[in-house]
Amino acid sequence: MEKIKVGIVGLGRLGKVHAKNLAENVQGCQLVAACSVVQEELAYAVTELGVEETYKKYEEMVKSPSIDAVFIVSPSGFHCEQIRLAMENGKHVFSEKPIGLDLAEIKETTQVIESHPEQVFMLGFMRRYDDSYQYAKQLVDSGALGELTLMRCYSIDPSSGMESFVKFAGASDSGGIFMDMSIHDIDLVRWFMKKEVDRVWAIGKNAAYPELDEVGELETGAAMMQLENQAMAILVAGRNCHHGYHVETELIGTKGMLRVAAAPEKNLVTVMNKQGVVRACSQDFPERFREAFINEAKEFIACIREKRQPEVTAYDGLQSTKVALACKESFETNQLITIET
Ligand code: NAI
Repeated sequence: MEKIKVGIVGLGRLGKVHAKNLAENVQGCQLVAACSVVQEELAYAVTELGVEETYKKYEEMVKSPSIDAVFIVSPSGFHCEQIRLAMENGKHVFSEKPIGLDLAEIKETTQVIESHPEQVFMLGFMRRYDDSYQYAKQLVDSGALGELTLMRCYSIDPSSGMESFVKFAGASDSGGIFMDMSIHDIDLVRWFMKKEVDRVWAIGKNAAYPELDEVGELETGAAMMQLENQAMAILVAGRNCHHGYHVETELIGTKGMLRVAAAPEKNLVTVMNKQGVVRACSQDFPERFREAFINEAKEFIACIREKRQPEVTAYDGLQSTKVALACKESFETNQLITIET
């Protein structure tokens, strides 16, 4: 069977992970093109991943007849424009989260996507493709927890990643902590609860890293949310986790509760020594979500082959972004924000 030919834009912290997966870990596709503004990254794609075409300009890559699909892993502010160009040039599109940073632009992009229903569009909410979250979702959907009343979500990046984050945030707009980090939790809340978020209140504080003030970023942010059925969600996002990469989710229902990764354990090994009983932790997102990144790429390629659309849609991107923007507004104005439906 003909392989699906893919071009990737962005070969940074996450782009390299996706590029390697597409080149080595996902059957039925071939990574043939790469676009980056950094020459060394393009050289890496050629020598390490066997990429045949390299581009400094996305507008050129997206017109290449050699590619069937694009993987967008550029900074968030470029996603909408790059999605539009790919759709208009007849390519299937995988875009990293968030779908965009500006609501009006996202709405226009969603229309462009909807006007090309024969092309696959998928958004990178990879947690939905993680084994533990899928297991939890099956339990919740089977009614094992009863009716969900509250979710508590932690997404805290490792303090060891601070230098690379400050570089990332200095080079381009991340959208802020709620857009950049909490958006995954917002998607989980909508996915598990099957309800939209109605109202949010968000607060934050910078303590350990004054350099974050200089790039307009928060070290720790917290948000409290009410959903349309009065269910609740409490989100904590941070950039200062000393034990590694802490992503934890708790679901509380009328008949029980569950936690995904109550401690962010690296694997099943327990060491007993002078420090006590020690469990190593996942250190970063490529490690914790290694399989999920591969699974979502496999799903994207399968959707193209089977001519169907994935579960994660542009609408999920729009709705999650509305909530993240409301959190930002709440933090900036210190007001409770009601979200437009
Ligand atoms: P990064 O800053 O490490 O890399 C950005 C890449 O985009 C670089 O290769 C750069 O050369 C390229 N680039 C920048 N401007 C460009 C342009 N005009 N044309 C073509 N290429 C351009 O960023 P990082 O951390 O890899 O993030 C990229 C995206 O992935 C962001 O949207 C971010 O939100 C998302 N992300 C998602 C994660 C997840 O958990 N799903 C984790 C980390 C990032």
